[in-house]
Amino acid sequence: MTSISDPLSLTHGPVWRNRLALAPLTNTQSNPDGTLSEDETRWLEARGEGGFGLVMTAAAYVAPAGQAWAGQLGIAADAHLPGLTRLAERLRTTGTASSVQLHHGGRRADPALSGRPNQCPWDDPEKNAVAMTAGEVEELVADFVAAAGRAERAGFDGVEVHGAHGYLLGQFLDGRNQRTDGYGGSLDHRLRVVTEVLEGIRATTGPDFQLGLRLTPEGNGITLEEGRETARQVLASGLLDYLDMSLWDVFMRPRGGADGLLIEHFTDLPRGDTRLGVAGRVLSAADARWCLDQGADIVTVGIGAILHHDFAARAVADGEFQARPGPLTREQLRAEAVGPAFIDYLAAGWDHVVA
Ligand SMILES: Cc1cc2nc3c(=O)[nH]c(=O)nc-3n(C[C@H](O)[C@H](O)[C@H](O)COP(=O)(O)O)c2cc1C
Repeated sequence: MTSISDPLSLTHGPVWRNRLALAPLTNTQSNPDGTLSEDETRWLEARGEGGFGLVMTAAAYVAPAGQAWAGQLGIAADAHLPGLTRLAERLRTTGTASSVQLHHGGRRADPALSGRPNQCPWDDPEKNAVAMTAGEVEELVADFVAAAGRAERAGFDGVEVHGAHGYLLGQFLDGRNQRTDGYGGSLDHRLRVVTEVLEGIRATTGPDFQLGLRLTPEGNGITLEEGRETARQVLASGLLDYLDMSLWDVFMRPRGGADGLLIEHFTDLPRGDTRLGVAGRVLSAADARWCLDQGADIVTVGIGAILHHDFAARAVADGEFQARPGPLTREQLRAEAVGPAFIDYLAAGWDHVVA
């Protein structure tokens, strides 16, 4: 039986010291130009000190048109490199592996921030977005690849491509994407841009660079059957070190009424040497063990890691560990290296976290 304290080897790059990964968590602490602030650096460094096997940044925009939130981290220009380089160095000293989540908001970007019209695979008057041209699709792939190159130059161990939650790569996977240029319509064609991004990153980064992909299992315009088929194909591609399934609740049943638990629709897929991660409502050592017992290799923790910077160290040391129930006071959150801007962001949408 796998234990959460077991180290994890991947096809490329360093061994993770255990099975617990910090979830990508948008924290709106970056400077207006997308460079890292000390608060954001410290938030992540504290999770490295707190024992996580992998520390991943929040979704970072790969191109200015993809920016979706004020205070979002950027990896779109070399001007973003000095802060990222400092973060990678500080994470390395904590003993964690490190990753940048690569993101483009697409139709869900914020033109008021990006200063550019929204991009989308299809014409979308609701979001004031015009279907991307073939040239823009090519640029999009190049932007993801260039951003991965920057992460590598900054000293990160890898990147996770954000293909989940209905952002631009997820919009390509969406059934509403009926482009006729080979990038829409059938599931194979809808998956093509993701595959080109992964192939491009593999071709330009070194043999020790870890490549992950985050996917939505169902919803955001895809059926569970399509979500499963997408996962099957990327697992079989051999391009990935890990697939991170964003389940929102690891214990849930499929929404559409399919049999069994949602997690089981992914743990039973052949995965070769690719590792499988799951995320959603893991709040105790027992929850994390349960995910591994179901067949996952990696357990990705979000809220639990906000409540305790050292969720991972505690869960590894104590099989009975359970995160304290929220909400926490601002002072308690500050003591966990959650900065004021992040606390304000959480207070606006997560009242079970901030009192
Ligand atoms: C404040 C907050 C910010 C988030 N930001 C991101 C993000 O930048 N990228 C992403 O893929 N998921 C994001 N998520 C989803 C988390 O990564 C995670 O999958 C989800 O919260 C479920 O795990 P949890 O119950 O352990 O928090 C965010 C969630 C929260 C609560």
